[in-house]
Amino acid sequence: MSTPFYLTTAIYYANAAPHIGHAYEIIAADVTARYQRLAGKNVYFLTGMDEHGVKVQKTAEAQGISPKQFVDGIAETFKTAWQQLQVTENRFIRTTDAQHYEVVKNIWLKLQAKGDIYKARYEAQYCKGCELFLTERDKDAEGKCLIHGVMPEAVTEENYFFKLTAYKDKIKNLIQTHPDFIQPQSRVQEVLNQLEDVTDISISRAKSAVSWGIPVPGDDDQVIYVWIDALSNYLTGVNWSLADESQYQTFWPPTVQVIGKDILRFHAIYWPAMLIAAELPLPKTLLVHGFIRLADNKLSKSTGNILGVQDLMERFELINVDPIRYYLIASCGFGQDGNYSDDEFKLKINADLANNLGNLLNRTLTMCKKYTQGQVPQTTTQSLVSVDDLNAIQTDFEQFQYNEACNKILGLVDKGNKAINDGEPWKLFGQERFDEVNAILYNVLDILRQAAILLSPITPLLSQNIWQQLGYTTEITQAQWPDLTQKPIPFQQILNPGSPVLPRLESEIVGAGKKG
Ligand code: MSP
Repeated sequence: MSTPFYLTTAIYYANAAPHIGHAYEIIAADVTARYQRLAGKNVYFLTGMDEHGVKVQKTAEAQGISPKQFVDGIAETFKTAWQQLQVTENRFIRTTDAQHYEVVKNIWLKLQAKGDIYKARYEAQYCKGCELFLTERDKDAEGKCLIHGVMPEAVTEENYFFKLTAYKDKIKNLIQTHPDFIQPQSRVQEVLNQLEDVTDISISRAKSAVSWGIPVPGDDDQVIYVWIDALSNYLTGVNWSLADESQYQTFWPPTVQVIGKDILRFHAIYWPAMLIAAELPLPKTLLVHGFIRLADNKLSKSTGNILGVQDLMERFELINVDPIRYYLIASCGFGQDGNYSDDEFKLKINADLANNLGNLLNRTLTMCKKYTQGQVPQTTTQSLVSVDDLNAIQTDFEQFQYNEACNKILGLVDKGNKAINDGEPWKLFGQERFDEVNAILYNVLDILRQAAILLSPITPLLSQNIWQQLGYTTEITQAQWPDLTQKPIPFQQILNPGSPVLPRLESEIVGAGKKG
């Protein structure tokens, strides 16, 4: 059996429809899932929705519907968006699933049995946007939340607390002895700083204040704090503590947990503390990404500073989502913040995918039609792509340096374009130097084959289209990494040229309208 690879994303607050920032995270995770499958791993990919909490409760109330009705609608919107984005999750979890209630109860009971839960009176300031009691570090000079810019709500309640302080040293030790635990490592110091002033945390709210949540076992007047509820989703995702634990047995602990930088504290401190308390193995890697921002505010006028995937599809009349996937992955180093702008989007997609890759395919297939009877020609020459080239790309994928992988794959495509520009097969054909024509075209076709496979985690539809135009009748998702060197494109395979895999983007945003 191949090596298990348990991959998770954050679960998304069911407050509003997904935007390009959420899309960025799930695409990065999906690239990871697809690459790991290509590399032969047994991937289990979990994503889903975080549906409890005071914010959801208030939003639903304002709309005059029940919280459940409200989150059902939002969950559908996310599911549909992820389908459109070609996300290949194995399970879409919702914290309102009955199974999840059971898992959260079980984890609570474990922490309680350990003696890590106690009740105390609490006076603090709660930010609904963060779903968090703010510490001094989280507030500005006026006492407003640094992230949301609003005054937190003063709360005095009797709550249950978790003895987080009891785990401070263990977590510090974990971070210091496991360099892979937090990636990129540039994020480690901020967690170590936060750990310095860690306190015990309130892990419940009075039901009178928050009714939309999972009840505390044995105390109907309290509901479990959303972050304890939310983090437990990763356990529910593999049916921990439920009747059939076989998935848990196969996949636990998580191999990679993809999260944004804003929720690192919960995942690097609360989450391991919960797991250590429950005596469960810890995740191997928290993979922390940056934020995508809109560089040009005029872009978002019509949508109120929020840009959705569908907005982009319409703005550029895209035939599929691959340009969005490619742009988000290729234009931003993992872990860094990225900017979205229409101009950069158009430039990058036209340069890399339409001109460089798309044209290479078109011109090569056109020449094969003229010079090699529409078939893959036979040759004895060596491939233009070396094993070193492929190893370097593999290393980038393994280290989550997806933008670097894109650069290198496009470098292979450049080699193909150069082989044609320098070799001038049309001249050679006129001079009846057919062996040389065959050698060039064969090598370029094989580069296109490799580029299609290598890009398939990032641009699955585009890759499948190239694959078919190269004459394959299989699904490219079936390709495995060793195929790159071991299964060159077969001689005499009949090519199947179609329309351009990616028409140049011409549209320009002018207010809500388009031209082009
Ligand atoms: N529900 C919590 C997470 C619980 S995980 C046990 C939450 N939800 S969220 O909807 O606010 O954010 C979900 C993920 O989207 C987070 O990882 C967050 O960093 C990410 N992003 C939200 N806005 C983003 C951008 N603008 N850019 C990139 N990612 C962003 O937090």
